[in-house]
Formats: sequence, structure tokens, C-alpha cells
Amino acid sequence: MKNIVLIGFMGTGKTTAGKILAKELGMKLVDVDEEIESETGMTICDIFKEHGEPSFRDKETEMAKKISSGGGGLVISTGGGIVLREENIACLRQNGLIVCLMATPETILQRTKDSTDRPLLKVENPYEKIKELLNQRDVRYRNSDITIETDGKSPMMIAHEIIEHWKAVR
Ligand code: S3P
Repeated sequence: MKNIVLIGFMGTGKTTAGKILAKELGMKLVDVDEEIESETGMTICDIFKEHGEPSFRDKETEMAKKISSGGGGLVISTGGGIVLREENIACLRQNGLIVCLMATPETILQRTKDSTDRPLLKVENPYEKIKELLNQRDVRYRNSDITIETDGKSPMMIAHEIIEHWKAVR
């Protein structure tokens, strides 16, 4: 069985929808950021602060390779920046269906405004930052097998939409 790989910007619901998806399909959920945190014993924020973003991106690539080299049957929730390196998506795609969750900057701001664990959004104007990063990454996000617009949808609705696609291609 293939993996289901959830990609998309911060706040598009990858982790929440991923949990429901994994439960309903009886698959194991693996979260790339959580795996990095448990392997390094550091939070993502501390890795950014103490070692810088490039070091985090190296760890992210290592973890993407490690997770996708397993036997399949996983729901893999990735960090929003996984698309920044083509090699990450290439290895995740080898054994996985790439599902991209999209949302408007307004929705993303609403969903992320109270979070303290996203170093890239700890800036004076998070809305501008969200728009800037989304612009930079848009083409990469859209290079997925399935794209799901998540505005106005609950995590349950998003998970069920993914399940419909999954059943059709499996
Ligand atoms: C990032 C997204 C975060 C995390 C890190 C960088 C990004 O994950 O990997 O803060 O570059 O978009 P989430 O998308 O789960 O918030």
C-alpha cells in the first residue's frame, strides 16, 4: 500500500486532518516535524533559533527520506516547507500519493494567529509574511497529485474528501 503524503502551507490542516484520516483508514500517522523533534530532543523553534533554518531544512530532508523508505501504509504529515527542496517531494512521491491542502492567506492567518511554535510567522506582520511565502511556494504546492481547497471546511470534511480520492486511485 502507498503512503498518503499531506503537504501544504502552515495552517492548512495537515496535522488535524491527518489524524482523522489515519484513524478512519486504520493507517499510522507520522508527522515529519514531530519525528525531527523527538530525534533531536529539540523543538522546531529551538532548532531554528540555535542552528538556523538551513540546518532545520537538512534535518527535514533526512527525515523525509527516512520515513518514505519504509514499507508504505502511512499517513505522512509534512511541514509547510517540505516543498522547498524538490528531492523531498521526489522521494515522498516514489511510494506516496501527494495531497496538497490549500487555503487563502486570510484563513491561514486565522488558523495560525494564536500559535507560538511557528518561527517563520513570529514577525511583526504575519499576514504579509504568509502572502509572501505563499506566493513563493504556490507553484510547488500545486505540483501535487491532488489539491484540496480547505477554506470553510472542517478537518473532518477535509479528511473525508481525501478518503474519496484515495479510494478512487488505490
Ligand atoms: C514551516 C512549517 C512548519 C515547520 C517549520 C517551517 C514552513 O510546519 O516545519 O516551522 O516552512 O512552512 P507546519 O506546516 O506543520 O506548521
